[in-house]
Amino acid sequence: MIEQFKKEVDTGLSIPKKTLPSKYFYDKKGGALFVEIMHSKEYYLTRAELEIFTNQTQNIIDALELKRDTYFELIELGAGDGLKTKQLLKELSKQNYTFDYIPIDISQNALDDLEQTLTKEITTLSINKKQGDYFDVLESIKGNKHPKVILFLGSNMGNMSDKIASKFITNLSHNLNPNDKLFLGVDLIKPKEIVLPAYNDSKGITKAFNLNLLERINKELGGNFVVNNFGHQPEYSEKEGVCKSYLVSYIEQKVFIQALNKTFHFEKGEKILTEISRKYNDAIIQKIIDKSYFKVVNKLTDTNNYFANISLTRT
Ligand code: AVJ
Repeated sequence: MIEQFKKEVDTGLSIPKKTLPSKYFYDKKGGALFVEIMHSKEYYLTRAELEIFTNQTQNIIDALELKRDTYFELIELGAGDGLKTKQLLKELSKQNYTFDYIPIDISQNALDDLEQTLTKEITTLSINKKQGDYFDVLESIKGNKHPKVILFLGSNMGNMSDKIASKFITNLSHNLNPNDKLFLGVDLIKPKEIVLPAYNDSKGITKAFNLNLLERINKELGGNFVVNNFGHQPEYSEKEGVCKSYLVSYIEQKVFIQALNKTFHFEKGEKILTEISRKYNDAIIQKIIDKSYFKVVNKLTDTNNYFANISLTRT
């Protein structure tokens, strides 16, 4: 893990257009900040998807074509705090479906908290958590023939470029069996007046979340970033439907990272790309799944039409 982190930081800060991978946001502090972001008034994504999970639970169950008498695995990629999924899990348990809930997350803390709250609130739930990168975990699911439902919610796919998303979804479809389902949560393309504040909340939580990446490099790799010398800057193009978050160097400066025994130079105004948050429409989704074995069977949206949950079947 630390070797991988070192390598990716070195590569990302050594290229002309500097970049750091967004997956490293989620250490203990970053995970807690993300939970705060989800509760902020500007971050509409979580609320919109929660509305779908709360008000259209039965529609979700119907769209997934689940059978009460057939055991299945409900696998969630990037489960986080599981607030949305809880609505579905409660209903499935109430209706006596037989399944294991398998949440996968990069954050062990998030998984431990999730297990605690879920087992307390849904006593009959069988939960089997797995810590890791979802790319690695994909490999571990292809072993058995049990029917599967994969939940990939929260517009988590939005952190991938379309090319990587397409590869990932295609690979996922190869690891599944006919009739298995994918339930995808995606943020929809909308005006920047709504998107930008979601990535630049008035309390500065998102700013702290972004800057925490530099603090993490300081803590884990012996960096000497002066965090106050960097600012947080999201940019969004409605035409492309992509929001990009940057850290901007306020001054010309040098940063030494001990674990790499290397100094990095920043120009005044130079940006580090730390995250892409893609927004979608039907055509973009279709293009992403084109080479996979998935086909869209159903789409649910919230009342504002901000967010969509799309169910796909493995043909
Ligand atoms: C968890 C990847 C969906 O991109 O909207 C929130 C992460 N970054 N605020 C997103 C995030 C800044 C989030 N995802």
